[in-house]
Amino acid sequence: MSRGPGVRLCLHWLVDLSDAHLADAVADLRLGLRGAGVEEAPGARDAHAVLVWRDTPPGPALVDRLARLGVPVVLAGPTLAADPDGAWTGHTGLVTGPVTPAHDVRVRAGRDAGGMAARLVDHRHGTGAHLGEHVHVHDRVLRVEQVDDDVAVLLTAAVGLAVHPVASRRGPVLAWLLGGTPTGVASPTARRLLLLALHELVAATGRPASAPRTPVRAALLGYGAIGHEHAAAFREVTGLGLELVCDRNPERLAAAREVSPGLRTTTDAAAAVEDPDVDLVVVSTPPDTHAEWALRAVRAGKHVVVEKPFAIRTEEADAVLAAADEAGVLAVVYQNRRWDPDYLAVARAVRSGRLGEVFHVEAFVGGFGHPCNLWHSDVDASGGAFYDWGAHVIDQLLDLFPAPVAHVSATTHKRRWFDVTNADHSRVLVHFADGAEAEFTHSDLAAALKPRWYVLGTAGALVGSWRVERVVSRNAVGTLEEDVLAPADSPPVLDLHDADGSVTRLATPSAPPHPFHRELADHLLLGLPMSVTGATSRRVLAVMEAASASAADGGRPVVPR
Ligand SMILES: NC(=O)c1ccc[n+]([C@@H]2O[C@H](COP(=O)([O-])OP(=O)(O)OC[C@H]3O[C@@H](n4cnc5c(N)ncnc54)[C@H](O)[C@@H]3O)[C@@H](O)[C@H]2O)c1
Repeated sequence: MSRGPGVRLCLHWLVDLSDAHLADAVADLRLGLRGAGVEEAPGARDAHAVLVWRDTPPGPALVDRLARLGVPVVLAGPTLAADPDGAWTGHTGLVTGPVTPAHDVRVRAGRDAGGMAARLVDHRHGTGAHLGEHVHVHDRVLRVEQVDDDVAVLLTAAVGLAVHPVASRRGPVLAWLLGGTPTGVASPTARRLLLLALHELVAATGRPASAPRTPVRAALLGYGAIGHEHAAAFREVTGLGLELVCDRNPERLAAAREVSPGLRTTTDAAAAVEDPDVDLVVVSTPPDTHAEWALRAVRAGKHVVVEKPFAIRTEEADAVLAAADEAGVLAVVYQNRRWDPDYLAVARAVRSGRLGEVFHVEAFVGGFGHPCNLWHSDVDASGGAFYDWGAHVIDQLLDLFPAPVAHVSATTHKRRWFDVTNADHSRVLVHFADGAEAEFTHSDLAAALKPRWYVLGTAGALVGSWRVERVVSRNAVGTLEEDVLAPADSPPVLDLHDADGSVTRLATPSAPPHPFHRELADHLLLGLPMSVTGATSRRVLAVMEAASASAADGGRPVVPR
């Protein structure tokens, strides 16, 4: 099976906005949707739906013309609010009232949300039904005073104790009451909701649009330490499904079946990556085998998620990306630490401009201790010292600095742990074309820890300090037991230092569960962009490869390939 990501939807736009900011936001939305594979039809009759986004009253001619078209119509943004005479009322089945000011709108599934309800949630507040599941959009709400019985209510928002539909459908007419403000239009959440509603509209009106089959059926190749995490994500994220697990170790297959009863399992990796009932393969074997299995999967027409690191050499990643391009499938790396709470806070602080121009970042992970005797500590299987934590932290550093990498210099030390082949201590310095620099140190010989983050900007600094946390309990005879967590098991504490000496402790935001897999589902099913792409991980790999070459040559500067 070969299928490119993205939906096959075709829209005709009728935009007439006097508010220049809103018009700009809608133009950006159109561009974004085009990037997500939504096409634009020059004529209304060739489209799956006509999108009307206007802030002036419609006039009877427009309403009549659209009603006679025989094509589903979306009345979006301020279109209904700008219709004081109720020209659209006969079509929407809604009698509308005044508009609220813009605020943090909590959008919930309406009584007729159907499949949309499951795809909606990004906040689940406690288990109390009164809090429930919703998404946040900064927008205004058009109060709806009356809803006809034949209106399907897809999404709602509460204003006071009254619940108002913010997306509803009557036959072929979708009233999309969000998108009345530039921030409401620009929000990725609102864009995602609009795509879900467009699919509902097109499916309900029986117009053939090609939407990918759901759920996307995944095979996990390698069910080791990270196996449960992927299995849970494929079980829990709507739109994804776990079809098959492959591991050559039968005990690991038994572990997989224990958490997913009834799961299909196999020890035959070659058959798994070509299985006709599989749409996507997760390659979660040791790093030196990633490229080979990823290549086999994409050549079989499967989307592929490769565990980090992408591969050992850049030409292997290039071969995977080229084959994926040719097959029209996705190849992406599981860079899950993009959603670590401390990284989210660091990225937010850097991008907010509070630190001024950021020109120097140091990152550190490690401690003092014997590395494990598994493949992780073996140069050939793992790629070497830069590839394990480096695959995460260099990804974070490159995400912070969009400028091209000018060159990389690196050093390693082998001084104590001689029964494993990876270096005991490694340090890589990335020089960017604009003069900024980022350094990452990983050490198994650090009896004292450097901060996790040390970020300098022209207006301030940010320091992320490791926490040493303990889990305290009693053993079977009642004596106290203390389990000291590895520093990397607790998110560091982040302090922002202003130029005037004041220090602010930053909140560390938490992402919704399985953020990577949620983006994966949205990409494959709705065409929305992912934060991580094959190209960003290829850039990480090129830096790790250059660091290895530099360290092998006494720290000589190396330009990544
Ligand atoms: N993203 C993260 O946070 C994260 C965390 C841990 C590991 N990883 C990555 O995940 C990958 C796996 O790491 P792990 O710690 O789970 O390793 P692991 O050694 O615990 O598991 C690897 C599994 O792959 C199986 N396997 C290897 N070759 C196979 C083959 N040809 N056919 C079938 N099964 C095969 C092994 O039997 C084993 O069960 C690595 O690339 C690692 O870097 C990522």
